[in-house]
Amino acid sequence: MSKQILCLPGDGIGPEIMTEALKVLEAAKQRFGLDIEVSHGLVGGAAIDKDGVPLSDETLAVAKRSDAILFGAVGGPKWDSQPMANRPEKGLLKLRSELDLFANLRPAILFPQLAEASSLKPELVAGLDILIVRELTGGIYFGEPRGVRTLENGEREGFNTYVYRESEVRRIAKVAFEAAQKRGGRLCSVDKSNVLEVTALWRDVVIEESGSYSDVELSHMYVDNAAMQLVRAPKQFDVMVTGNMFGDILSDCAAMLTGSIGMLPSASLNEKNQGMYEPVHGSAPDIAGENKANPLAQILSLAMLLRYSLGEGDTADAIEKAVSDVLDKGYRTGDIASEGCQLMGTVEMGDAVVGCLLNS
Ligand code: NAD
Ligand code: IPM
Ligand code: MN
Repeated sequence: MSKQILCLPGDGIGPEIMTEALKVLEAAKQRFGLDIEVSHGLVGGAAIDKDGVPLSDETLAVAKRSDAILFGAVGGPKWDSQPMANRPEKGLLKLRSELDLFANLRPAILFPQLAEASSLKPELVAGLDILIVRELTGGIYFGEPRGVRTLENGEREGFNTYVYRESEVRRIAKVAFEAAQKRGGRLCSVDKSNVLEVTALWRDVVIEESGSYSDVELSHMYVDNAAMQLVRAPKQFDVMVTGNMFGDILSDCAAMLTGSIGMLPSASLNEKNQGMYEPVHGSAPDIAGENKANPLAQILSLAMLLRYSLGEGDTADAIEKAVSDVLDKGYRTGDIASEGCQLMGTVEMGDAVVGCLLNS
């Protein structure tokens, strides 16, 4: 039976980079004879415009039936005045929550060809290979109560709740320990346990779990120091595990070490190994519609999809090799451009990846 992928391009540059990823998928199907069926849906602002909500029940139902979801990006100024409950971002958050995609893997790997594009000195990032494991369905993003209320003196007060259950910490810790076992054997858990009870519990639970992973070297770091260490000496890290909000922030930071946020893919997995795959970046309204967006994070997200949800590791390897090949040729979008490179647009970059995939 053919595998089912749901494709949700979203807003801004989402549809532009998705078009390129789908071209790459077609080429991969041709080269490797894959039996994959792609369906298409709306999410985010595009869904608000058509259905009035950022994720319709029908689209959610298709997502739940799919083997994997390829997601672009959502949001943009057009919908910024929507009430919080109906913002484009809620479509993404609902997918994560309804599919229980608690394990967000965000690999920050430097392609050696991009050492010059990194915001750090080449020697600090040469060989960089970090995996950020971000808890994705809990923490302050989903905690209740939340809202804005008016106090007796008439002043407004905004509030959110930062909460983690032990079981939520335990399951993400397991994912991180297992990832560390398969990689460099080192795990750094990032928290703010000097201030926040919720993350003091996080640390305790991670330590308890470490008993089952004696081959992994566990360390702990406060999030403020972790942010600093990421830009001071990022190669000290192998796997980092952290909660939803800290993981969001640290992964954008790690992205820049690899040359651009346009290079970072991600996988969000549940216990059934169903997954949603998306670039770490957003809808980049500042460059949308200009053929300037880097499609490589989306294309690398497709490679992760093929590897993790479809068991097509060889195809994933070939796509990653094709990305490396275009970088070897000196092809660059503006965000990763350096002296002497061949500057190109979103479409041309997608075409170049397809070319390398079919001719290697
Ligand atoms: P952003 O990631 O969209 O953009 C930040 C900067 O990075 C911009 O200058 C942008 O041009 C650049 N950039 C991002 N992706 C790029 C790419 N592929 N190629 C070249 N340059 C790229 O973050 P933002 O500006 O804070 O947010 C814009 C909108 O995106 C907001 O509505 C936000 O809520 C949304 N957002 C969505 C997601 C998602 O869908 N997963 C993630 C982050 C932000
Ligand atoms: C991300 C994004 C999302 C997040 C937003 C758009 C809800 O920033 O995927 O990193 O904060 O998780
Ligand atoms: Mn983010």
